[in-house]
Amino acid sequence: MHSYVLQHQARHNMDRIAARIVLLGLWVLVAGHWGQAAPVHIDLNDRRLLAPTAGEYHGDTRTYIVHMAKSSTHSLLASLETPLSRYSQLLQTLKQDMTLVANGEPATLPIHVYSSVCQGFSARLTSQEAAALRKMTGVLAVYPDTIRYPHTTRTPEFLGLSSSNGLWPNGHFGDDVIVGVLDTGVWPERDSFSDAGLGPVPARWKGICETGKDFNASHCNNKLIGARYFVAGYEAALINATGKPLNESLESRSPRDTEGHGSHTASTAAGSEVPGASLFGLANGTARGMAPKARIAVYKVCWAGGCYDSDILSAFDQAVADGVDIISLSVGGPAREYLEDAIAIGAFGAMEKGVFVSCSAGNAGPGLQTVENFAPWIMTVAASTIDRDFPANVILGDGQILQGQSLYTGKGLSSNVTQMITGAAATTGNVTNSALCLPGSLKATLVKGKIVVCKRGPNRVAKGAVVLAAGGVGMILYNGGADGGVLADSHFLPATHVDTEAGVSLLAYMNSTATPVGNIEFLGTRYNVKAPIVAGFSSRGPNIVTPQVAKPDITAPGVNILAAWTGAVGPSSLESDTRRVDFNIISGTSMSCPHISGLGALLKAAHPDWSPAAIKSAMMTTATIRDNGQVDVITDQFGGAEATPLQYGSGHVRPEMALDPGLVYDLGFQDYVNFLCTSNYTARDIELFTSTHNETVTCPRSDVQVEDLNYPSFSAIFQKPPSILNITMNMTRTVTNVGNANATYMAQIAQPADTVITVYPDILSFSSVNEKKSFTLEVTAVNVPTVSNGSLVKFAFLVWTDGVRSVQSPITIIVI
Ligand SMILES: *[C@@H]1O[C@H](CO)[C@@H](O)[C@H](O)[C@H]1NC(C)=O
Ligand SMILES: *[C@@H]1O[C@H](CO)[C@@H](O)[C@H](O)[C@H]1NC(C)=O
Ligand SMILES: *[C@@H]1O[C@H](CO)[C@@H](O)[C@H](O)[C@H]1NC(C)=O
Ligand SMILES: *[C@@H]1O[C@H](CO)[C@@H](O)[C@H](O)[C@H]1NC(C)=O
Ligand SMILES: *[C@@H]1O[C@H](CO)[C@@H](O)[C@H](O)[C@H]1NC(C)=O
Ligand SMILES: *[C@@H]1O[C@H](CO)[C@@H](O)[C@H](O)[C@H]1NC(C)=O
Ligand SMILES: *[C@@H]1O[C@H](CO)[C@@H](O)[C@H](O)[C@H]1NC(C)=O
Ligand SMILES: *[C@@H]1O[C@H](CO)[C@@H](O)[C@H](O)[C@H]1NC(C)=O
Ligand SMILES: *[C@@H]1O[C@H](CO)[C@@H](O)[C@H](O)[C@H]1NC(C)=O
Ligand SMILES: *[C@@H]1O[C@H](CO)[C@@H](O)[C@H](O)[C@H]1NC(C)=O
Ligand SMILES: *[C@@H]1O[C@H](CO)[C@@H](O)[C@H](O)[C@H]1NC(C)=O
Ligand SMILES: *[C@@H]1O[C@H](CO)[C@@H](O)[C@H](O)[C@H]1NC(C)=O
Repeated sequence: MHSYVLQHQARHNMDRIAARIVLLGLWVLVAGHWGQAAPVHIDLNDRRLLAPTAGEYHGDTRTYIVHMAKSSTHSLLASLETPLSRYSQLLQTLKQDMTLVANGEPATLPIHVYSSVCQGFSARLTSQEAAALRKMTGVLAVYPDTIRYPHTTRTPEFLGLSSSNGLWPNGHFGDDVIVGVLDTGVWPERDSFSDAGLGPVPARWKGICETGKDFNASHCNNKLIGARYFVAGYEAALINATGKPLNESLESRSPRDTEGHGSHTASTAAGSEVPGASLFGLANGTARGMAPKARIAVYKVCWAGGCYDSDILSAFDQAVADGVDIISLSVGGPAREYLEDAIAIGAFGAMEKGVFVSCSAGNAGPGLQTVENFAPWIMTVAASTIDRDFPANVILGDGQILQGQSLYTGKGLSSNVTQMITGAAATTGNVTNSALCLPGSLKATLVKGKIVVCKRGPNRVAKGAVVLAAGGVGMILYNGGADGGVLADSHFLPATHVDTEAGVSLLAYMNSTATPVGNIEFLGTRYNVKAPIVAGFSSRGPNIVTPQVAKPDITAPGVNILAAWTGAVGPSSLESDTRRVDFNIISGTSMSCPHISGLGALLKAAHPDWSPAAIKSAMMTTATIRDNGQVDVITDQFGGAEATPLQYGSGHVRPEMALDPGLVYDLGFQDYVNFLCTSNYTARDIELFTSTHNETVTCPRSDVQVEDLNYPSFSAIFQKPPSILNITMNMTRTVTNVGNANATYMAQIAQPADTVITVYPDILSFSSVNEKKSFTLEVTAVNVPTVSNGSLVKFAFLVWTDGVRSVQSPITIIVI
C-alpha cells in the first residue's frame, strides 16, 4: 500500500526565478521574460508516461473488463432476461466458437456484471478469447484488469469550520447526504462510526450491510448505513498468481477493514464527533469528519495485494445503484488513457447520475506530470500540510540542533551524549543496503547502544525495527537530495526524520569526529505553524492525457492527519507492531481526498440543486493560493520555493467561501460528451462512457475545442512557433449566477511578463438567480523565443468580483 511511500521520478526544475508583485490585490507569480526562464521538461506527447496496457500476469489467462453497447444487438442474447444470463451466454458462445468448450458444458460465469455506470462485465479470458470477443457485435472494448493501490484532527478548525454559523449549520453537518467510500473497508466499532444523535436511514437508500467474516448486519447503524465487499477480481488474480484463494487468517472476506486505510478515510470524510481522540496523546482533541452527520456506505475494494479495476468498477456500479450522493476514492496507479481507465469510466457514470466523485491525485511527486485520476469529471485532490506538526529535533555533540518530525511518544534516550553511527559504517557487507538500514544489513556489535543514522527509503518505520533488532537505541532518518519533505511516523524507538539540508550537516558532523554523539528531543504536538505547504509527495500536473484540462484541481489537508484506525494492525502497519490504537496519524493524498468528499457532502446538503460540477466549481473558485499568514503564496515542501497551480491546482480549499461562490462554472453530461468528441474519440469509444444513458448521444459541431470545456480553471497549450512570435488562443466559458439575483461582476486579470490576457466582455451583469452569461478569455504569449529545448510555463489568474465575492481561476500557459 503506498499510502505514504514515495515514488521518485525524474525531477524537473520549475521556474524558480519567480518574483512577486501585487496586482489587483493578488499575489502573483511572475517569471521573467520567456527567454530568461529556465525551461521545464514537459513532453505532452510522451506516451511512455502512460502505464503499459498489459499488466504482470502468470500464464495466458487473465481478467478482462468488457464494455458492451447500449443495445446488445447479438440476436442470441436479446431474448435472455438478465445481464448475467446474457453475458454468461456470450462467454459460452465465445468458448464454443473457439472449440474450447463442448456443447452442454456449464457456462463460464462473469466475475462481475456492470449495469449502473456502464454496460458490461469482467471475466477470465485468454488473449485469443479477448481478441475474438473484441470482434463480436455489441462489444465496445476489452482491456485487461489492472492493479491500483491506496494512496496513504484539528482539520475542521484549520479549515475554518464553525458549529454556530456558515457551512456546517447551513449544510446541516451533512445530515442525510450519503458518502460512499471505496477503500479497504471499515472497523465499525470505532466511535467515529457511532450513530448517536442521528435520525433514521434515509428512505431512498437501497444499500445493504453484507455479512462475512467478523462482519454482519448488526455492525451497521444509522451512521454506517451500508457495507459491501468486492473481492472476485482480486481473488481471480491471486489464484492465478499463487494458486491459492484469499487467506482468511490475514484478511477478512467481508467489509471489515484489516488494513486501517479505509477506516481512516471514511472517518475523515464523515466521522462522528469523538472527544478525547489522539495517537498516544499526540494531536489530542475532538476528532470529527468534515461532514459529521453525513451517512457512510463502505465499499471494500482494496485487499492486502492491492485494488483491482474490475472490483473498483463493480463498486462504482453498486454504489450508484444503492443511492450514494458522493464517492470518495483514495486509490490510484499510473496514468491510463480514459478508454482503459475503469476509475474514469465508473466516475463518468456516477457523474451522470448526479454523484460527486472525489479522488486522490497520487503520491508520485515531486516530479511533474505525475498526477493520476485526472478525468475532467473527477475532483482531483492534491495534499498539503496543516498548521500542526510534531517536532523532534536532533541535538548533536557539537551543539548543532537539526529540526525533525516524529510521532514517537515513548521514553526518550537517557543521555545527550549517546554514541552515533551511520548505517553504512555498520555494514555487514553491502554498504548500499546498510546506508538504508535494510533488514540484515547492520552489524550488531557496531550498532549496540547507539543511534543509527539511516538514509530514507521505503518502509521508514521498518528501518527502526532493523535498528532495534541489531541492538541500536535510536534512529535518525535523513532525506537524500531527491526526497521532498519530512514525515512524522509512529516509530518503535526514539527516532526522527530530518530533511536533505540537515542530512548534509549530520553526515559532515559524523565525519568530523571519531566519537559522534547526540540525542533526540521530542517536543510533542505544536500548533499554529506556517501552513499549508504542498507535500513533497503530492502528485503534480500537467495532465498527461488532456493537458488542456488543468490538474490537480485543488489541495486539502493530507499530512499528519488523525482519524480512525483498524484494530487489526498497529499504527505503523508492520506485522511486528503489537501496539493497537483507535486513531492513527498518517499522510498521503489518500487523506486529502476524503476532506474534499466530506466538504462536497456539506455543499450538497446546503445546495441540493447543485450538480457535481457546481459543487466542484464552488470549491475551486473560492480556494486560496496564500497560506495561513494570508500574505505569502503557498510553498512547495520540495525545494521550499513558491508552489504553482501545477502543485495546488486552484489553491487550498476554503469551505466557508465555497458555500457562497457567487458564480459557478457548471457542466453536465452533454458538456463532457462534447469534451470526448473534441478529444477525437470515436462514437464507439464514447459509448463506453454513455452506455447506460437512455437517450441518443450526439457530438456537437466540429469547431468546438477541448479548451472550451466549461472548466473552472484554464490551461493554454501553445506549440513553439517557428520564429519569435506572439501566439494567441481564445477560450470560452459560461458562468451561472448562484448569488444575488441582481449582480454585476468585473473581471480582473493578474498576468506575468510577456503575456497579454484579455476578457471579452469584462463586465457581466445578472438580473436573476441561475442566469448564465458567457465570456471569452484571450491569452497571448508575447515574443515567444524559438530556441529552447524545454517547455516554458507561466501562470496567471482571472478573478470575477462583485465587490464581495471573488471567483478565481488559475491560468496555466505552457509553450511546448
Ligand atoms: C453479528 O456479530 C456480532 C458481533 O460479532 C454478534 O454478537 C452477533 O451475534 C452477530 N449476529 C448474527 C446474526 O450473526
Ligand atoms: C495464511 O496466512 C497465515 C499467516 O501468515 C499462514 O500461517 C498460513 O499458512 C496461510 N494459509 C495459507 C492457506 O496459505
Ligand atoms: C491536549 O493535551 C494537553 C496536555 O494534556 C492539554 O494541555 C491540551 O489542552 C490538550 N489539547 C486539547 C485540544 O484538548
Ligand atoms: C540535553 O540537552 C538539552 C538541551 O541542551 C537539555 O535541556 C537537557 O536537559 C539535556 N538532557 C540530558 C539528559 O542531559
Ligand atoms: C547490494 O544489494 C543490492 C540490493 O539487494 C544489490 O542490488 C547490489 O548489487 C548489492 N551490492 C553489492 C556490492 O553487493
Ligand atoms: C569525510 O571526510 C573525508 C576526509 O576528511 C572526506 O574525504 C569525505 O568526503 C567526507 N565525507 C563526508 C560525507 O563528508
Ligand atoms: C482532433 O483532430 C483534429 C483534426 O485532425 C485536430 O485538429 C485536433 O487538434 C485534434 N484534437 C485533439 C485534442 O487531439
Ligand atoms: C431518460 O431518463 C430520464 C431520467 O431518468 C427521464 O427523465 C427521461 O424521460 C428518460 N428518457 C427516455 C427517452 O426514456
Ligand atoms: C507582440 O505583442 C506585443 C505586446 O502586445 C507587441 O508590442 C508586439 O509588437 C507584438 N509583436 C508582433 C510580432 O506582433
Ligand atoms: C478572441 O475573441 C475576441 C472577442 O470575441 C476576438 O476579438 C479575437 O479576435 C479572438 N481572437 C482569436 C485569436 O480568435
Ligand atoms: C433587480 O433590479 C431590478 C431593476 O433594477 C429590480 O426591478 C428588481 O426588483 C431587482 N431584483 C431584486 C431581487 O433585487
Ligand atoms: C537543454 O536543457 C538542459 C536543461 O535545461 C541544459 O542543461 C542543456 O544544456 C540544454 N541543451 C541544449 C542543446 O540547449
